[in-house]
Amino acid sequence: MKQYANGRINEYLSVAGNAIYPSYVVRGSKKSMMIDAGINLFGPLYAKSLDEILGGREKLDYLFVTHSHYDHLGAMPYLRRMIPGVRTGGHERVAGLLKKESVLEQMTRLSEIQRPLFGQFTGGEDVRLEPVELDHILREGDVFDLGGLTCNVYEVPGHTRDSLAFYFPEAGMLFPGESIGYVEDSPEGGVLVEFLSSYDDYLASLEKMISLKPKLFGMGHAWIYTGDDAADFLERSRIATFEHRKKLEDYLDSVNGDVDRAIEKIASIEYDQKGTIRQERNAYLINLTAQVKHIAGLRAEKN
Ligand SMILES: [Fe+2]
Repeated sequence: MKQYANGRINEYLSVAGNAIYPSYVVRGSKKSMMIDAGINLFGPLYAKSLDEILGGREKLDYLFVTHSHYDHLGAMPYLRRMIPGVRTGGHERVAGLLKKESVLEQMTRLSEIQRPLFGQFTGGEDVRLEPVELDHILREGDVFDLGGLTCNVYEVPGHTRDSLAFYFPEAGMLFPGESIGYVEDSPEGGVLVEFLSSYDDYLASLEKMISLKPKLFGMGHAWIYTGDDAADFLERSRIATFEHRKKLEDYLDSVNGDVDRAIEKIASIEYDQKGTIRQERNAYLINLTAQVKHIAGLRAEKN
């Protein structure tokens, strides 16, 4: 099944916020964990959802993030201020990035573009981004016991260098961030692929997650897949990864390897004309640039 990431999903899993920037709240018999906290403007909305799901935001034990993008950890500083007792966690690179003023500025700029759409969610509260200390520097093999449910940490680089996935074997639930791609906004629901830090790492990480055979996974945006649809998506994601690389190479060929012209052409055709990519355009361009440069670099290495 494919369903919107919204509300209560099963006895262990609920979604805080909404399907645009879902935050997954997993509850064991003893502890609870929130996975990702999207753009900072959503902070008060997540806190309100936590009140409903847990009967009080202060009951949240862990807040872990899948990677260092503004739409996955933007609300972490706000939630840390609101819930002083929560234990934060992420890849070691995340804490370092959040200390950099240039990074905070770029994240703030990207979310402020969306204020006309989501500004009402702040309720006028202070949702500024600021450095956050991580209580847990997460690494492959780390395990957190929530009571009847264990969170297993996997390093899944490729989308970013600091990408993590969280897997709960007892329920077969996987939260991969964007390391298995995301879903095109079209009736076909094609897989959009983003290997920003490394194509080879991305593919290896995808294979790692396929081997877990998850019964359910919560995408970084919009959708939750279960059962046969989950297996089908992962297989399509593998094929889409090869196709995406080929597509970027073909675009580069069409402009004699000129990276800037390739980026312009891809954005015009794939984003503007097709209109099936829901990502904010500035963020799309930043990510597209990283991928085209990476593929051009791989080709230069080969020649
Ligand atoms: Fe991302």
